Amino acid sequence: MYRSNTCGELRITDVGKSVTLAGWVQKVRNLGAMTFIDLRDRYGITQIVVNDSSSAQTRETASKIGREYVLQIKGCVIERESKNGKIPTGDIEIQAQEITILNEATLPPFTIEEDSDGGDDLRMKYRYLDLRRPPLQRNLMLRHRMAQEVRRFLDSEGFMEIETPFLIKSTPEGARDFVVPSRMSPNEFYALPQSPQTLKQLLMVAGYDRYFQIVRCFRDEDLRADRQPEFTQIDCEMSFVEQEDVLDIFERWAKHMFKTVMGIEFSNKFLRMPWIEAMEKYGSDKPDMRFGMEFANITSLAKGHSFSVFDDAEYIVGFAAPGCASYSRKQIDALTEFIKRPQVGGRGLVWIRVEESGVKSSIDKFFSAEDVREIASKLGAKAGDMCFIMCGPKFKVLTQLCALRLEVASQLGLRDPKKFAPLWVIDFPMFEWDEETQRFYAMHHPFTSPKPEDVQYLESDPGRVRANAYDFVCNGTEIGGGSIRIHDAKLQALIFKCLGFTPQKAEEQFGFLMNAFKFGAPPHGGLAFGFDRLCSLFGGADSIRDFIAFPKNNAGRDVMLDAPSQIDQSQLDELYLALKEVPQKK
Ligand code: AMO
Repeated sequence: MYRSNTCGELRITDVGKSVTLAGWVQKVRNLGAMTFIDLRDRYGITQIVVNDSSSAQTRETASKIGREYVLQIKGCVIERESKNGKIPTGDIEIQAQEITILNEATLPPFTIEEDSDGGDDLRMKYRYLDLRRPPLQRNLMLRHRMAQEVRRFLDSEGFMEIETPFLIKSTPEGARDFVVPSRMSPNEFYALPQSPQTLKQLLMVAGYDRYFQIVRCFRDEDLRADRQPEFTQIDCEMSFVEQEDVLDIFERWAKHMFKTVMGIEFSNKFLRMPWIEAMEKYGSDKPDMRFGMEFANITSLAKGHSFSVFDDAEYIVGFAAPGCASYSRKQIDALTEFIKRPQVGGRGLVWIRVEESGVKSSIDKFFSAEDVREIASKLGAKAGDMCFIMCGPKFKVLTQLCALRLEVASQLGLRDPKKFAPLWVIDFPMFEWDEETQRFYAMHHPFTSPKPEDVQYLESDPGRVRANAYDFVCNGTEIGGGSIRIHDAKLQALIFKCLGFTPQKAEEQFGFLMNAFKFGAPPHGGLAFGFDRLCSLFGGADSIRDFIAFPKNNAGRDVMLDAPSQIDQSQLDELYLALKEVPQKK
């Protein structure tokens, strides 16, 4: 037996016990007559003391150890003279009687403590060392707890966990596929699933009416803080359900997660907001509802005052920032610079300062004080507030103003990670027009059903068709999304046509699904939650990376394994693959 206790469990009530601990040396302090060792494992840290009462050999061993050595300590629990209130074991220490070095360690490249002195790249390269640090251990423990609660709830509701294959045929979900060459079928490729979407639909055809899976998905897309090329979904599907049934069960699931993992109870129903309302009021289909600052459309009020910027604009919109009337010119200039950055793409910012004494604005030259007051009042401003206004093409300017709303909220400290504002965004448009390729794309995916009352516009006015699709949003992040699916082969064929698929292409890519629909497909629907995003939301962090044991860096590389990497010529030969020269980047 290597240990009788972990490094996190001994307390004052254990004083007098003989124990054996095993763990890593976080720190050694040699004070001459005494040596203190902080021994760490994933449960905590316990202080070990080596002094006169320890044997000469123990003192000799203690003088040789360094950071991250793996030790076994036999000793007695004693009360500490100077207690450490910061750690749960801080009232006691172990008087060492015997120290065994189980393994030596090279000096680690960064400190392995609560806060590390290592840079991002270095910590990614030595991820297994970074994972020894308490913040990452807490994150992975949180992830584990959450996975258990997901399973517990879904199992209690009759969902069956069924695995689906990773080597499949391409399913379009908007990103590029990662492909895997086949040795047995030369010149042919598998695709790694972007999600098990079509497979879970086939499970519904097969009669497994409540399915779930905590499953890895793969998408070759540009990375951001909340995106990884491989990530995990809590993927769910149900048969004989309408949208209301899906929202009901997964709202109960979300409440179960908040309650059991975070100790937070939501007694009211989650807000439901149509997509168009989310866009018009918050400029986003994933609005952060932890604070107000709702937008108001002031197009008709603001036009016709000989201010050509407004007169020429399609849409004029603004919001009132509470208590910001005191913002200095410098602060306003900084916000103007913020919205002009290429990532936001705004052209300019109009402001109205609302004070008890009156209003002052950057458009005073064109508008009377009364007109300015009227605009400020439409934006819901009170004395002490500052209004910010932007104009441009409708959805473009809404998105730009959303970036400003979030920036102002961050500055005002309104994006509190301990506060949670969940909602459902519903009634998404079925299709999204892409200017570049001049065609419609499915906003969710091509298997989503249109609202029955909008089916009539499918061919004549596709932009008008709304989908039976919904997203679960919390604190400005899309945590999950899903839809009621098409279960009729003819309607599915029509949607493929609207999306520009020829019948041959649709057959080639999705023949298996449309064929399955001919054999008695039940009405079905479901959704998938981003498990990594849910973990980082609960963990109060923006980036999902630290909730994944071995993530990729921002360039999609695993710097620890050094992947992707080249393969041997013999492997290429076996696969009948030849490499092409990569053009030099200019
Ligand atoms: P969707 O594409 O909306 O839907 O994905 C569902 C959820 O998965 C998470 N997610 C990601 N998380 C981390 N990194 C990524 N690259 C990434 N991409 C997506 C998000 C998102 O809300 N098959 C459908 C679901 C369905 O219709 O049932 C699907 O995959 O949190």
